[in-house]
Amino acid sequence: MKTEILKVLRESGGYVSGQQLCDSFGVSRTAVWKVIEQLKKEGYEIEAVRNKGYRLIESPDLMGQAELESLIDTRWAGKTVVYAKETDSTNIQAKALGEKGAVHGTLVVADRQTAGKGRRGRRWTSPPGTSIYMTILLKPQFLPSKAPMLTLVMALSVAEGIKGVTGLPAQIKWPNDIVVNGKKVCGILTEMSAEVDYINYVVTGAGVNVNTDSFPEEIARTATSLYIEGGSKLRRAKLAARIVERYEKNYEMFLETEDLSRLKDTYNRLLVNCRKEVRILEPGNEYEAIASGIDDTGELIVTTEDGKEKAIYAGEVSVRGVYGYV
Ligand code: BTN
Repeated sequence: MKTEILKVLRESGGYVSGQQLCDSFGVSRTAVWKVIEQLKKEGYEIEAVRNKGYRLIESPDLMGQAELESLIDTRWAGKTVVYAKETDSTNIQAKALGEKGAVHGTLVVADRQTAGKGRRGRRWTSPPGTSIYMTILLKPQFLPSKAPMLTLVMALSVAEGIKGVTGLPAQIKWPNDIVVNGKKVCGILTEMSAEVDYINYVVTGAGVNVNTDSFPEEIARTATSLYIEGGSKLRRAKLAARIVERYEKNYEMFLETEDLSRLKDTYNRLLVNCRKEVRILEPGNEYEAIASGIDDTGELIVTTEDGKEKAIYAGEVSVRGVYGYV
């Protein structure tokens, strides 16, 4: 009921009478009052005026279940939110839920991760109170070989979400880092449980640096936050909700062709590497080339110095800007 009351208050924008809330949810005035008190305790600023009712003045920067569920406006993505104040990793938890048969679209969110996972076995430092750590669980019908493209679907959704909510010039560093002004604000990690020809479930996790004030020296050259770049603190849940909404739309477009052909142009427009010189780091081989964008499967098309076109598959290589991270 907390989620519903929050949603009604938020959507009305003005006063909602206690009676209206009681009637909508078939509960007593005391029950409504108790929920309002609980919300206030959590930091929501709610005004109560006799004969008028309740009005939501301000929401705190919380990533809780009710906050997220009341903000996410989708058909299946993030309709169920599993929230923990602290967890090892939202990817680990989403996989555990996948094993237990949780529904397609379940969203796992935490305020803090104690064992946040990055790509290539690295760690993802995940302090509380400032960032988004979320993972979506999917149960697709397509072949396992197509699952890596979901990382690019998420990258596009995060970039669109950031642009929509903050107006900041978010771009994608192929295949799946999101950068603002040349520094990384988000990393994405997709993991899967599959048979040779059948996906049990896929999880795609995104870590977005939202209100982080500063970064340790080792990563400050390449990492940033939306707060550092934009100068104002954001409500994380609002951004998370927008990303999930974009993800649902983009995923449905992906499903129509089971590849990125319908998303490719939008993705390429946001690609920071487009028409830029990049350094390709293949195992045992390093060279420079000009990137021109992704193809239908998400491979990066580059033209090497001898004029040959090549498609690069993300699993095998790293791409750097010639002068730095992008
Ligand atoms: C990268 O190395 O760039 C990928 C980082 C992915 C981090 C996110 S945070 C939410 C989800 N849970 C994890 O343990 N990792 C991903």
